[in-house]
Amino acid sequence: RIRSFISGVGSYLPARTVTNEELAKTVDTSDEWIQQRVGIKERHIAAEGEFTSDLATAAARAALDNAGLTIEDIDLIVVATTTPDYTFPAAATLVQMKLGMNHGFAFDIQAVCSGFVYAVTTADSYIKNGLAKRALVIGAETFSRLLDWTDRTTCVLFGDGAGAVVMERIDLADDEAERGVIASALRSDGKHWDKLYVDGGPSTTGTTGHVHMQGPEVFRHAVGKITDVVYATLEQSGHSVDDLDWFVPHQANRRIIEGAGNKLGLPPEKVIITVDRHANTSAASVPLALGVAVADGRIKEGDLVMLEAMGGGFTWGASLIRW
Ligand code: ACO
Repeated sequence: RIRSFISGVGSYLPARTVTNEELAKTVDTSDEWIQQRVGIKERHIAAEGEFTSDLATAAARAALDNAGLTIEDIDLIVVATTTPDYTFPAAATLVQMKLGMNHGFAFDIQAVCSGFVYAVTTADSYIKNGLAKRALVIGAETFSRLLDWTDRTTCVLFGDGAGAVVMERIDLADDEAERGVIASALRSDGKHWDKLYVDGGPSTTGTTGHVHMQGPEVFRHAVGKITDVVYATLEQSGHSVDDLDWFVPHQANRRIIEGAGNKLGLPPEKVIITVDRHANTSAASVPLALGVAVADGRIKEGDLVMLEAMGGGFTWGASLIRW
């Protein structure tokens, strides 16, 4: 049985943090409102001249170090991002250049906040069908550049950052226990496109545009869609919620995370939460949360880990991984 497993995790957060109090100096909001509604205390914001591919490259280097590998060992780079440096080429090929990799192949995935789960599932498929042996899978965003900083309903919610994993092929003998990606489920439904979108692009306005969101509508769909896809993944694998050691959800909003955790019947201590420090970093949020939980020793070899995300499109998905 050919499987892909995660052999390294790395993160990068821009140096500058912005607290709710700082935001309250420029928009009509408060630390109390933000903490109560979404559970965010602060977020990291990229410096001028610091681009998505820089964040992604730093996270990728950390993941390679963590795996004990060099770029020579990698033959695929997948970057999940909504905020590439340029309309083209893909951020992934810029990361490839910055890492000094001239072999293999690299491309981006655009599924907004679900991008990392889509990218893990894509790399897993490429490894299983023999197109790649070792992949760098990265979620990276400079989401701050899509925000209208005068719109209090969106600008308080997001942050910048990057997280990366190394995924490697493993050939399991018939009698060996499952390891790596066990099951995944991906979904989308484009009829919801305008509930969460950016009002710009090369084919429409020729501008970058800003984030627009019908917050309560997104909230209304989130918990049901997240739990559906988690159950779909568990059903494929023959596992139950009780088997899960860790739930690593997309970090959009503390209330959505807790709502999904409660609906699944997960004890809160199994749920990884980083939204308080990172805010919503879109495609970077799941690998950044993984990075925190691996570094502090919560996620360890043998654990059963459920990744989950939902975002613009709508897109949503989950992936079950034996660490
Ligand atoms: N500070 C103070 N007041 C605010 C702010 C703010 N930053 N933002 C909105 N308000 C006000 C509104 O203007 C409104 O005032 P009004 O009643 O005088 O008109 C009031 O707060 C309530 O607004 P709602 O939008 O109804 O607030 P709600 O309780 O729904 O919370 C929120 C808004 C936090 C966006 C919520 O809808 C939510 O969490 N939705 C999920 C969306 C989400 O997390 N998106 C992230 C991206 S999507 C994803 O990654 C899955």
